[in-house]
Amino acid sequence: MFADNVEKVLISEDEIRERCRELGAQISADYEGKDPIIVGLLKGSVPFMAELIKNITVECEIDFMAVSSYSGVESMGDVRIVKDLDRSIRGLDVLVVEDIVDTGKTLQKVKELLYSKGANDVKIVSLLDKPDRRIVDIEAEYVGFTIPNEFVIGFGLDFNQKYRNLPYVGVLKEECYKK
Ligand code: IMP
Repeated sequence: MFADNVEKVLISEDEIRERCRELGAQISADYEGKDPIIVGLLKGSVPFMAELIKNITVECEIDFMAVSSYSGVESMGDVRIVKDLDRSIRGLDVLVVEDIVDTGKTLQKVKELLYSKGANDVKIVSLLDKPDRRIVDIEAEYVGFTIPNEFVIGFGLDFNQKYRNLPYVGVLKEECYKK
């Protein structure tokens, strides 16, 4: 069983469900009358996005975007769009859904990109936040859980593209990194 590779469960399915209810209520209050577009970053945001939007009660659209980070010669990684949005976001309030804010580089670039496409406002909701690892000055407006500096998997988060389907957030056994 691949779940046997999990060292410990950090955040349970119930805790995630409950936190999504709270975040959904907060977002619904903040976006009252605003008609936002909710943009999930593929692939890590998918389970979180699905759980979160059930709890958002304002009229909204959803869309997805996929970006891939690659580091060139410079130490600052860059971000390339792999799948773009289906529609124009000019003048719209955008809420980006992400699995985790780590160094912050991805979200900083995505934010810049969305503003360059004419968004009126860009805010971020992230399931997880690992503030100890931050390199660039960016914070998500809405955070599910702040976690210590550990590599986590599950509920969308992967290790080599696997484990995204675990229904909780866990820590992978060290031996799995060394295989
Ligand atoms: P950032 O640009 O460094 O903030 O990276 C964000 C991306 O790195 C996330 O969307 C994840 O795909 C990946 N990432 C960062 N930390 C973890 C982790 O602990 N587990 C799995 N993926 C992670």
